Amino acid sequence: MFIKKRPSWALPWSEVTPEPIFRDRRRFMVGSAGVAASLFAPGLLSAASLPVSGQALMSDRMPRFSTDEKQTPLDDVVRYNNFYEFGTGKGDPARYAGEMSVDPWSVTVEGACGKPGQYALEDLLKPHNYEERIYRLRCVEAWSMVIPWVGVPLADLLEQFEPTGKAKYVYFETLHDPEQMRGQRSRFSTIDWPYQEGLRMDEAMNELSFMAVGLYGKTLPNQNGAPLRLVVPWKYGFKSIKSIVKIRFQEERPKTTWEMLAPDEYGFYANVNPEVDHPRWSQKRERRLPSGLLSPNWRETQKFNGYGEQVAHLYKGMDLRKQY
Ligand code: MTE
Repeated sequence: MFIKKRPSWALPWSEVTPEPIFRDRRRFMVGSAGVAASLFAPGLLSAASLPVSGQALMSDRMPRFSTDEKQTPLDDVVRYNNFYEFGTGKGDPARYAGEMSVDPWSVTVEGACGKPGQYALEDLLKPHNYEERIYRLRCVEAWSMVIPWVGVPLADLLEQFEPTGKAKYVYFETLHDPEQMRGQRSRFSTIDWPYQEGLRMDEAMNELSFMAVGLYGKTLPNQNGAPLRLVVPWKYGFKSIKSIVKIRFQEERPKTTWEMLAPDEYGFYANVNPEVDHPRWSQKRERRLPSGLLSPNWRETQKFNGYGEQVAHLYKGMDLRKQY
C-alpha cells in the first residue's frame, strides 16, 4: 500500500513550536482573518474546507520586510488565483490544482554555476531558516493582495549553487505535465508551455526577492504555486512564477511567457508603474481584495508597488516607459 509521507520540510506545530509562540501566532491569525483562524483550528482542516490542506511551518517573522496593512483573508488568497496550467478562470486553480502531485518534488539547476544538478526539494531547503514576510502583490489585472508569505530570501537560495560571473540573468520554469495540469492539455490554450520567467541577477539578489514555500503559516496550497514559487513584490504578479522545477543561470536575457505571448502588453521588467498604462486598461488604481461590486476597495497604485526605496536604484538611467 502506498502511504503518503509528509515532506520532511513540513513539520507539524506540535513538534517544532514552543507553545507561547504557537498561541501568539494563533492570536495573530485570529486578528488578521477570522476565516483563517477557523480553517487552521486543529481538527477542522479538511480537504472540503480548504482546497488543499497545508502543513504547518515554523518561521521567523521579519518586521523589516512586512507591512501592517490589513491582510487579505485566506479565503480570497486561495480561491481567486491565476494559474493558467489549471484554466483561465479565477476559480479554476482552486478547483483543479489538487490534481497536481507535489511530493516528491525536485528542481533542476543548470547553467552558469558551480553546483548544477537535480536537487530534491528538501535538500534545496535544508540549509535555510524560513522567514515570514508580509508582502503586497499587485496583479497586472489591477487587483492586489497582502499576504503573509513563508519562505527563504531568493539570494540565499541561489547562492548555494555558486553562480559564476557569467550569470547575468536567472531563468525559472514551471512543471510541464499535461496529465496533471488540465490547462496544458486544453486545445484552447495559447500559451507555449512550460510557463517561463526570468530576473536580472541583481533583481534576483535584491533583499526583497523571495522564494515562498508557504503562506499564512502553512505550506503553499497547490493553487498558489506549491511547493515553491517566486514572490517579487515590486513587479506585476505574473513575474511570481509558481511550482518551479527548473532554475538556470545564463548570460543572455531569457524569454518569458507573457512577453512571448503579447510583447506589446507585457514586458520583461514588469515593474509596477501607475504611470505606464497597460494598452487595454489603466494601471493607476487597483482593487485590494476582498473586493465586491458594492465595495470595490479601490486604491491608488504606488510606483514599484511601494517598494521604491529598496529597488528604484536597480533601474537608474533606464526609461521605464520603454522598458516596461
Ligand atoms: N505561474 C504559473 N506557472 N502559471 C501562471 O499562470 N500566473 C501568474 C503568477 N504565476 C501564473 C504563475 C500571475 S498572472 C499572477 S497574478 C500570480 O501568479 C497570481 O498568484 P496567486 O494566484 O497566488 O495570487
